[in-house]
Amino acid sequence: MSPRPSLRELSSVSVGGANSSSGGSSPIITGLQKALNFTYALASFTQNLHWNMVGDQFLLLHPILGDQYSGLFDDADTIAERIRQLDTFVVVDLAKFQSDSGIAVLKAPFDTKTQIKQLVEYHQKNIETLKALEKQCSEDLETQNLLVDLVTKGQKTVWMLKSYLR
Ligand SMILES: [Fe+2]
Repeated sequence: MSPRPSLRELSSVSVGGANSSSGGSSPIITGLQKALNFTYALASFTQNLHWNMVGDQFLLLHPILGDQYSGLFDDADTIAERIRQLDTFVVVDLAKFQSDSGIAVLKAPFDTKTQIKQLVEYHQKNIETLKALEKQCSEDLETQNLLVDLVTKGQKTVWMLKSYLR
């Protein structure tokens, strides 16, 4: 029996190539890994707002942002497990989460409305990326279905946050 690879070893392999247990590479796997990186960074940004926002909207937004970051971490888990179902190892690289998403690191205290606007923009960018990937999945309806669900969730979040901002 071969020894189990460490997290460090798994983190250092490339997506869709050397880390595929079948040795293949696929644009869908690459897209899913990028979607995972973006979703994880978005969850972290939302959690940061949940923790550090202040002001008279705190009691309203704190629990809403809590539900949103929990949902995004669940989405990241779903995407990662889909990558595994496609017979490929998941790359866990915090620096990549940041660089693939372009999501800023915020320092408290925040201007809540400005940061919620920023959060909306990040969700919109994520939705665009997921929709583009969706179109590449006509031969993999299960992955496409998963992406449709993620887009629908993201659109609901955008609607809620935009309604708050009006
Ligand atoms: Fe919390």
